[in-house]
Amino acid sequence: MFERSLAGRVAVVTGASSGIGAATARFLAARGAKVALLARRLDRLDGLAKEIIADGGTALALAVDVTDQRSLEEAASQIRMQLGVPSIVINNAGVMLPSPLLEQRTEDWSRMIDLNVTAAVRVIGVFGPDLTKAAQTGIASDLVNISSSGATGVFPNFAVYCATKAAISHLSRNLRTEFGPQNVRVSMFEPGLVVTELADHVTDQSSKDWIFGARKTMELLQSEDVADVIAFTVSRPRHVNLQQIAIWPTTQV
Ligand SMILES: NC(=O)c1ccc[n+]([C@@H]2O[C@H](COP(=O)([O-])OP(=O)(O)OC[C@H]3O[C@@H](n4cnc5c(N)ncnc54)[C@H](OP(=O)(O)O)[C@@H]3O)[C@@H](O)[C@H]2O)c1
Repeated sequence: MFERSLAGRVAVVTGASSGIGAATARFLAARGAKVALLARRLDRLDGLAKEIIADGGTALALAVDVTDQRSLEEAASQIRMQLGVPSIVINNAGVMLPSPLLEQRTEDWSRMIDLNVTAAVRVIGVFGPDLTKAAQTGIASDLVNISSSGATGVFPNFAVYCATKAAISHLSRNLRTEFGPQNVRVSMFEPGLVVTELADHVTDQSSKDWIFGARKTMELLQSEDVADVIAFTVSRPRHVNLQQIAIWPTTQV
């Protein structure tokens, strides 16, 4: 029963080409959801879609830059046509580019704000009507926003990244007041350190040293640890909303 608990549901996963997004797509598909995989690297998405299909699942790979409204809207049309109306949206694509603020790395600030905040809101704008439509048919409907422990934590050099994640957490809290009454659940995940490609994009040396140092001294989360709890969250009965999930490595304090 548990294995097929998401049968009949269509899931959209942004940032599905690696890390938490790819693992979540696998977990949702294994439980019976049809999954739409969105990211820019189509080769990665095609590989993941093949894997899911070979395991008996349904997957649609779509090259999408979520910062581009048109690209998102075209993807949404394809998903509705090929898979059906989404009732799960994993709003996960993100980037983390820490550096001392006084170095004025304005391009990095913009990349983080454009993707982690503006694009995340765009994703909700594009798929929100699908979520309410799905809920009207009596099934569970879920918006899962991937925030971070940085939403509440303070770390040197991470001010802009943490601010983008604080925005996502507070956006999620507020959205419950709009979506909850329409039977759409809003859940925010605030993971601690997870071993993914996120850290590979960091260029500031002291931030890199801190992250890769943590990998040596602590057993960090794997993407599958987070994906497992996301799959659990969206497979609860429809009146149960796990709204805020802080998932941390045991030894991270
Ligand atoms: N790793 C951690 O320690 C950690 C902790 C807390 C929260 N998080 C959050 O978890 C989420 C996933 O990150 P991750 O750790 O799994 O890192 P990741 O492996 O680097 O994944 C990031 C994903 O975002 C996609 N992406 C980036 N720019 C995009 C764009 N413009 N359009 C569409 N997709 C885009 C990437 O795919 P393409 O490059 O192919 O587009 C990739 O699939 C992020 O929101 C991150 O802030 C991570």
